[in-house]
Amino acid sequence: MTSPDSLKLHRPLDMHLHLRDGAMLQLVAPLSAASLAAAVIMPNLVPPITSLEQLLAYRQRILEAVGPLAASFQPLMTLFFQPYSHALLAAAQPHLFALKLYPHGVTTNSDSGIHHIQAAEPTLALMQDLGIPLLVHGETTGFVLDREAQFLATYQHLATRFPRLRIVMEHITTAAALSLLDRFENLFATVTAHHLVITLDDVLGGLLQPHLFCKPIAKRPQDRDALLAAALAAHPKLMLGSDSAPHPQHAKEGCGCAAGVFSAPLLLPRLAQLFDHHGALPHLQAFVSDHAIRIHRLNPPDKTITLLRQPWTVPASYQDASGLRVIPWEAGQQLSWQIAPPT
Ligand code: NCD
Ligand code: ZN
Repeated sequence: MTSPDSLKLHRPLDMHLHLRDGAMLQLVAPLSAASLAAAVIMPNLVPPITSLEQLLAYRQRILEAVGPLAASFQPLMTLFFQPYSHALLAAAQPHLFALKLYPHGVTTNSDSGIHHIQAAEPTLALMQDLGIPLLVHGETTGFVLDREAQFLATYQHLATRFPRLRIVMEHITTAAALSLLDRFENLFATVTAHHLVITLDDVLGGLLQPHLFCKPIAKRPQDRDALLAAALAAHPKLMLGSDSAPHPQHAKEGCGCAAGVFSAPLLLPRLAQLFDHHGALPHLQAFVSDHAIRIHRLNPPDKTITLLRQPWTVPASYQDASGLRVIPWEAGQQLSWQIAPPT
């Protein structure tokens, strides 16, 4: 089968994106806004987004950072999960996409995450009644390779106890998480582009690669292969969520490497290359948009991105005039697809 030389993606979405704040926000937000119709914005700032006022102010800073791209890019805002009242959730709902639950201490800026899932249940009941989705960083603080597997029992508990709550298992990395999707009607999942490509060997099987270090850590080849097969087959409950998580170069390359892969600049070209390689380009539209629109009944701006099968080299870094520098995934490598320049 010959593959086409170009591909149009209608309303591409990133269902899990870290845009940060301040200078980093200014640097990275336009990179996502240029090629996406909407993105779900993570609330793990310092301090986290826990009030409607903070959420609206952060949304405004994002729109200012993307400038003219704001007309065709919708930030879907989230609150950092903590016990909330019905009054607060009801007031926030028109401006809110979802709540993001972090267990305490499992990843970057999760110090105010929850200690016991029981303490979350009154708020989860309110969310179920209001129809607000729950996004979960599903890891325990156990042995690093087992953290996601150990959390699966909590997903089962939540899915059973709150059968009308839409629960998204964020950035899944294991075949076991994937198999849960088929067992609970109200469970959905996002997966990153990098977890469709790398395994733990790429992170630390040779020289240590700090720019591939993220939470959850990449797992075994059979896990990566199961996730990839599901994405390529357009599994109807699996959505793209890049988890693009930029950190300054010094925080990644110094001792005590921060967790996060910065994939925003190459997200769609890298996925086109991957799906093309496996003869699955016709399924990319569903993975990057259609499933999320159906599952969450979204109505993002009408935006079409054209990708071309032409070589493009990922920039070695992105930086601003103040010296902030961030290194993307596959920096300096040549990809076989690129985004068509705007006409
Ligand atoms: C994310 C970050 O840096 O905010 N890091 C990561 O490794 N993915 C947080 C997260 O999503 O876990
Ligand atoms: Zn994340």
